[in-house]
Amino acid sequence: MARINVAYIGLVVLLATTVMTASQRYQDCVQKKNIAQAQEECVRYLGIPCARLAVYNDYIYPNDTETQCMVRCMGVNLGWWNDEHGVQEPAIRNFFHPDPEDTQYDRRTYHCLKSQRLDNPASHLDVCDRAYESFRCYYEQYGNIVVTPQFVPLSSLQLSDVVLQCANMLQFPGYSSKKCDDSVKPSERDLGCLARCLLLRTGLYSDQHGPNLDRLYVQCNNYANETRFRETTSTCYRQLKAECPDECILARRFLKECFDEGATVDRASLALSAVADGLAEQVLGCVDEDGVEQVL
Ligand SMILES: *[C@@H]1O[C@H](CO)[C@@H](O)[C@H](O)[C@H]1NC(C)=O
Ligand SMILES: *[C@@H]1O[C@H](CO)[C@@H](O)[C@H](O)[C@H]1NC(C)=O
Repeated sequence: MARINVAYIGLVVLLATTVMTASQRYQDCVQKKNIAQAQEECVRYLGIPCARLAVYNDYIYPNDTETQCMVRCMGVNLGWWNDEHGVQEPAIRNFFHPDPEDTQYDRRTYHCLKSQRLDNPASHLDVCDRAYESFRCYYEQYGNIVVTPQFVPLSSLQLSDVVLQCANMLQFPGYSSKKCDDSVKPSERDLGCLARCLLLRTGLYSDQHGPNLDRLYVQCNNYANETRFRETTSTCYRQLKAECPDECILARRFLKECFDEGATVDRASLALSAVADGLAEQVLGCVDEDGVEQVL
């Protein structure tokens, strides 16, 4: 009887594990994380005593150097902090939930950042202090902490890596893990399929639903007006979809043609254009410049 029970428990555990693994399946290259996970990692990396983690897990952040640098680390980990450019608004907003009745949260947060000149990197020399004070502005003025994992934007290095993996998986002409073969020219469709693989693998897009605007907004960063970004990007996509039956060609034209606003907004499509650089330097070292520019 005991033996059966053990086997039964084993089976239940196995099934439960299988179900959990399936639901937490590492989906392509999409990263999602919450504040608690990121700070647990940062406490370990920075060698902060474990007792401190319990305090942070209650979302209490004392004003000391150790905590300030932990908050900076958590911000880098979640993609909402950058020493050079400061707080990345599209990314940090997802980690806070404004009260539905509150109409002033945006304005208050802006004033909090502005009053401490956190929007001006030159005003504070210490990056931990700046990251910490920026985080506090959101925490105190914007809304409550969101506990569910949120989309973490990919760095340009990660994007380049996705392009490399895609080129490898698709056996992209001219790409070989060992050497370049510059006698092979990729076709329009090859270039399109590489762009499509990049978009699918990063979770920024699906064939069925088109662009994932929530994630694209975070990934592209720095679009001043979210409403306009959503309108122009989805209108552009719908127009292309109507005239573009091929999924690869559609994906490539979407990348090339639907981020025009990027030209007028500083660094707007930074991350995606970094992919073009990545392509230029690594993936297609063997393909001529024109070939590279054709991808994006
Ligand atoms: C944290 O401490 C510094 C230095 O003592 C101070 O200037 C700053 O205002 C404090 N920040 C908060 C949010 O209390
Ligand atoms: C953002 O864009 C929308 C649509 O184009 C416009 O109605 C709105 O006034 C803009 N908001 C700001 C703050 O510029």
